[in-house]
Amino acid sequence: MLDLNEIPGAKSGGRLAGKVALIVGAGSSASGWSNGSAVAALFAREGAAVAAVDVSADAAEEVREAIVRAGGRCIALVADGTKKDEIARAVAQCVAEFGRVDILHNNMGGSIPSKVLDSTEADWRFVLDRNLTAALFASQCVLPVMVKQGNGSIIHISSNAAVAYPRLNMVSYSAAKAGLHALSRAVAMEYVTAGIRSNCIILGHIDTPEIRRRALERFGADKLEEVMTARASIIPMKRVGTVWEVAHAAVYFASDESGFVTGAEFIMDGGTSIPVVESYPDKVK
Ligand SMILES: NC(=O)c1ccc[n+]([C@@H]2O[C@H](COP(=O)([O-])OP(=O)(O)OC[C@H]3O[C@@H](n4cnc5c(N)ncnc54)[C@H](O)[C@@H]3O)[C@@H](O)[C@H]2O)c1
Repeated sequence: MLDLNEIPGAKSGGRLAGKVALIVGAGSSASGWSNGSAVAALFAREGAAVAAVDVSADAAEEVREAIVRAGGRCIALVADGTKKDEIARAVAQCVAEFGRVDILHNNMGGSIPSKVLDSTEADWRFVLDRNLTAALFASQCVLPVMVKQGNGSIIHISSNAAVAYPRLNMVSYSAAKAGLHALSRAVAMEYVTAGIRSNCIILGHIDTPEIRRRALERFGADKLEEVMTARASIIPMKRVGTVWEVAHAAVYFASDESGFVTGAEFIMDGGTSIPVVESYPDKVK
């Protein structure tokens, strides 16, 4: 059971007061706090009313229940983010319930490992639909509402696989997330005088239930901690990120504190994608 008392950090409780946030992919694919549910919980704790949209009714309901139990406002909406009519219906339900949409937090994603030559058309389209087309649809559905309000903040969750070559062989995922940056920039510029901002938060390795589930499936329970430690060791900070670090960054982009920030690509990956210039070796044998 999700419990908002687990949120670390000071309780300011008002950074998103009066705002309405629609989060697409607000649940978790496996048990525990995910990037999406942590954002939903922290947004609610900061005073936002939350529309938790997920393709899984159970996942959306788990988030709603936790937020409402902690005294926040939340509705659970079931929609497949890759289908424009479903996401349009969710936006309409959010407006009917809360009267507006101030924040679109697009957490949609997912990858299928593949190299260029073994990418099937079906896999390629699946990954692009999840990571990029869904972002277009959600943006298209909230923008008219935000234009009418004269304000809005759109946040996309991206990956450092979009800004550097990932050795995990994820060409479709890298291409889709890179496209997300271009989409975000286009929205930022087209609506730059309309009070609407669009930004990307670019993640490195974050410890989520889905990441652990995948590792468990591949390596087995007895190897799980060893694998997580090995993964952390290749990050310059020597640790993976937490969902709460993601959520705290999202609050900044959702709030008026970031009012002058649009078209930004904010990297949080423990230093992984800092370009490195190798120096000459000090000693020659
Ligand atoms: N964990 C990491 O290391 C990492 C790194 C970089 C980027 N990311 C990004 O983080 C995001 C996911 O993080 P998470 O922890 O929330 O993952 P998650 O898989 O646990 O949660 C995603 C949620 O989205 C829902 N969902 C899936 N398909 C959907 C659809 N078609 N319509 C609506 N909802 C759908 C799932 O049911 C789930 O509840 C993705 O955008 C991913 O690319 C994660």
